[in-house]
Amino acid sequence: MIYARIAGLGFYVPENVITNHDLEQLMDTSDEWIVERSGIRERRFFTEGKDTVASMGARASELALQQANLTPEDIDFIVFSTLSPDYNFPGAGVLLQRMLPFKEIGALDVRTQCSGFVYGLSIADQYIKTGMYKNILVVGSEVQSNIMELSDRGRNFAVLFGDGAGAVVVQATEDPTRRILSTHLHAQGEHAEMLYLEHPGSRLKDRMSTTIVEEGKHLPHMEGQAVFKHAVRRFPEVILEALEANNLTIEDLDMVIPHQANLRITNYVQQKLALPDDKIYSNIQRYGNTTAASIPIALTEAWQNGKINQGDLVCLAAFGSGFTWASALLRW
Ligand code: ACO
Repeated sequence: MIYARIAGLGFYVPENVITNHDLEQLMDTSDEWIVERSGIRERRFFTEGKDTVASMGARASELALQQANLTPEDIDFIVFSTLSPDYNFPGAGVLLQRMLPFKEIGALDVRTQCSGFVYGLSIADQYIKTGMYKNILVVGSEVQSNIMELSDRGRNFAVLFGDGAGAVVVQATEDPTRRILSTHLHAQGEHAEMLYLEHPGSRLKDRMSTTIVEEGKHLPHMEGQAVFKHAVRRFPEVILEALEANNLTIEDLDMVIPHQANLRITNYVQQKLALPDDKIYSNIQRYGNTTAASIPIALTEAWQNGKINQGDLVCLAAFGSGFTWASALLRW
């Protein structure tokens, strides 16, 4: 049998730290409001001319490759998850492919927002298990600070999101004791417009107009309370689904790495599953919500801090725009 395992991981965040107090200068908000509602204290914003979604993905990939003892020539396929690609087309995957000395390998972009990394991991897992590829790079990278408006009008969204990238190398193995056990993917498109960015899209003859900008329809729209309600239901559901599929229980878990959506959501999930503090990881306090990048950043940090060790049962879980939600259960 061929299985897939994570053989290397890394992350990159831009150097530009934006605190809640910095945001107070730009919009009518307060550190207290942001911390109470989201747990976020600071986030990173990209530097124009230095960081792009593809370049941040490349930095994270270099670290993941280094840790896996591989070079770009060893990689057979790229899966790149982002909601904020450098261009409308082509996707960020091909831009990453030209940044490092990869061969002329396939590069696939995934558009499932906050669930993008887990969807990407699932794709890699299937390609490896069928024997098609041996080493796949799965990347999540986002530049979101320029999608949001740093103003009173944009404040409900702008205080939550940040920029950054994470990457893992998924590798073929014959060792059943260290591998991806299963992945579980879901979507419910009827709620697409509860968390979405409408313009510029292809529905209108004029993709962009001054009216769209005046009405703020070029900014992301989020029905915060509805997102909260669905998220706190789907996170526990999809974690339990992964455990049940493998005849395991919550007590067997060593670490849950949730998409860093909001500390209140994570706390609710922790409470619902009765997980002790050391079995669920949060770093949203320092990076904000980095969408497809949040899980690989958190996973790398947790591993670097010694919170994940060989043999541990690790569950990755995500929920986001679409709505989409997903989990992956790993034996580390
Ligand atoms: N600073 C200060 N005040 C604000 C801000 C802000 N940034 N944004 C909104 N407010 C105001 C509102 O205008 C409103 O004022 P009013 O009462 O005078 O009308 C008040 O604060 C409360 O607004 P609500 O939208 O009702 O705020 P709520 O308490 O619901 O908190 C939040 C908003 C944090 C988004 C909450 O709904 C939530 O946690 N939702 C979950 C969604 C989420 O976390 N999304 C990010 C992740 S998406 C994902 O990754 C899946």
